[in-house]
Amino acid sequence: MEKLLITGATGFLGWHICQLAKQEWEIYGTYLSHFLKIPGIQMLKVNLTDFQELKRIFNDVKPSAVIHTAAQSQPNFCQTHPAESHLINVIASCNIAGLCADNSIPCVFTSTDLVFDGLNAPYQETDAVSPVNIYGEQKVLAEAGMLERYSMIAVCRMPLMFGMETPTAKSFIQPFIQTLKEKKELSLFIDEFRTPVSGTTAAKGLLLALEKVNGIIHLGGKERISRYDFGQLLVEVFQLPAVGLKSCRQQDVKMAAPRPSDVSLDSSKAFALGYQPLSVREELQQLVNNQLLT
Ligand SMILES: NC(=O)c1ccc[n+]([C@@H]2O[C@H](COP(=O)([O-])OP(=O)(O)OC[C@H]3O[C@@H](n4cnc5c(N)ncnc54)[C@H](OP(=O)(O)O)[C@@H]3O)[C@@H](O)[C@H]2O)c1
Repeated sequence: MEKLLITGATGFLGWHICQLAKQEWEIYGTYLSHFLKIPGIQMLKVNLTDFQELKRIFNDVKPSAVIHTAAQSQPNFCQTHPAESHLINVIASCNIAGLCADNSIPCVFTSTDLVFDGLNAPYQETDAVSPVNIYGEQKVLAEAGMLERYSMIAVCRMPLMFGMETPTAKSFIQPFIQTLKEKKELSLFIDEFRTPVSGTTAAKGLLLALEKVNGIIHLGGKERISRYDFGQLLVEVFQLPAVGLKSCRQQDVKMAAPRPSDVSLDSSKAFALGYQPLSVREELQQLVNNQLLT
């Protein structure tokens, strides 16, 4: 089996990719602060912002391909810690692209729908980027810097993701479900729209991109949905009490990072390549059927 290096294997998405890819690849997964044993995966502790450590990992592992998911992925944290998050989100990403170029190996990068300002959705790959927060700006810089170093890279713009809790990472639905179960108030935006997919679907898309994509591709879901309507689906599919579910607007909640209202992705290019996300209801139903929630 060939060697696949997955950065951020302890993250929500990295963990899901490990589960799928281990059938086909010998996997080396990196972590920083959460030690985790994943059966069948060799875990390596590495601070990706340290170029010497990064180079050592490439020299030791000699991967045949790389999927780079590690990031500071919280927009509010990036907004309040711009210099610190720049190191992992921009500098480390560009260095990884450079090392993949040096070794002429395929590389997939996980960017975000937040490279857009939310005013002209749905967005295609050819639309101009226009981030409204520092996290989005950092991903734009990483995309450009990585492609400049290595044009063969697959830059995958990921949508909002949800799914089962992993040993070291939650998705946003677990606290929602808990709040609804306890009949406490859960206020969700009626004016914020995304094209979400499950972590498993996203992982499938990234493995497809590793094989078939050079340049930018959108890996959004097939459905544009507001946060509030997503909450209603959670209530229906998980048969939760609806009493706590309330609607609100973005302007009602102050957060460090500004939030674009509608960054729905047009992912028809990926659909044509064989990326086939289910509807949000079907994805949630699968979590119930497979008892994958906790
Ligand atoms: N989640 C979403 O809805 C979403 C949406 C769009 C795009 N994305 C993008 O998709 C990717 C994966 O997101 P995620 O939600 O899976 O992220 P996550 O759960 O926050 O995981 C982040 C990962 O990065 C690692 N990491 C952070 N700083 C590091 C450093 N300096 N050196 C080495 N490793 C470091 C963490 O390691 P430890 O935990 O071991 O410290 C963890 O494995 C990210 O690039 C994110 O920007 C996510």
